[in-house]
Amino acid sequence: MRVGFIGLGQMGAGMALNLVKAGHDVTVYNRTRAKADKLVAQGAKAVTNIADACQGEAVITMLADDGAVESVVYGDRGVLAGLGRGAIHISASTISIALSERLTASHAAAGQRFVAAPVFGRPTAAAAGDLFVVGAGAHEAIQSAMPLFEAIGQRTFVVSAVPKTANLVKLSGNFLIAAIIEALGEAMALVAKGGVDQHDYLDILTSTLFGAPVFKTYGNLIADGKFEPAGFAAPLGHKDIRLTLAAGEDLRVPLPLASLLRDRFLTLLAHGGDKLDWSAIGRLPAKDAGVA
Ligand SMILES: NC(=O)c1ccc[n+]([C@@H]2O[C@H](COP(=O)([O-])OP(=O)(O)OC[C@H]3O[C@@H](n4cnc5c(N)ncnc54)[C@H](OP(=O)(O)O)[C@@H]3O)[C@@H](O)[C@H]2O)c1
Repeated sequence: MRVGFIGLGQMGAGMALNLVKAGHDVTVYNRTRAKADKLVAQGAKAVTNIADACQGEAVITMLADDGAVESVVYGDRGVLAGLGRGAIHISASTISIALSERLTASHAAAGQRFVAAPVFGRPTAAAAGDLFVVGAGAHEAIQSAMPLFEAIGQRTFVVSAVPKTANLVKLSGNFLIAAIIEALGEAMALVAKGGVDQHDYLDILTSTLFGAPVFKTYGNLIADGKFEPAGFAAPLGHKDIRLTLAAGEDLRVPLPLASLLRDRFLTLLAHGGDKLDWSAIGRLPAKDAGVA
């Protein structure tokens, strides 16, 4: 397919490269030009304005947050202005339910199609084409986008014809991961202060009842205390918990654990954690306990 890709950060760079490798005709745009140049060396075309990345059948955005998506879509010569009638905007960023609704309406009014396709998986999974895609949108639009999803992910889950549903599923998943990071951090602080080696402890957990990838990945990050370079930066994790709480507000679903997690992220950021991986909240219980 002829496809544009906007946002070549930790996740987007690997995703765009996998589209190239799958044989798609890929045009890339990134605010910081140097990241686009890298992709050119790997077979993509680079453009210097957003609208020029929107000349194909579809454009994928993989941007930091709502503000970034709004400026890229609604700005001068942005996605809305550049995309042809019938073409698809596929939004892979983790964004709010409210923005997903707004994008759905704006693209429909412009005769364009909109698919929400947030992903699960960290930058290593993005580079390996091993992401899990959660897609929602009109059936024909999802079917048209399927060859692109197959290039970036190992499996696509189609959850609804209403795009914002995919964003809700993604936010709920990140809330659950953050809750596990917090719980792991507390349990690991407890045993560490009692004299148990954290890696040995993790081996017991992951070899018995807690074999899921999320325990292995985040348990090791906490035990190693290796939070830099960030695979998923703490401010983005904080953003996802805020968006989860906003979704809970709208739907009138109390989420007491999410409120606690919001404060954990605030503590981390207040102490200079902006450049750390979001799993660094898992180190806070050890600090509270005075564990070295
Ligand atoms: N990292 C993960 O493990 C992971 C996993 C699943 C989903 N996600 C989600 O995927 C999205 C991207 O995450 P990431 O880790 O790839 O983030 P990242 O490395 O920080 O990349 C962010 C991208 O957004 C661009 N951007 C930021 N603000 C912008 C603005 N105002 N205008 C135009 N472009 C702007 C950046 O451009 P510059 O290069 O110019 O800064 C960069 O291309 C986020 O929504 C995140 O929550 C991340």
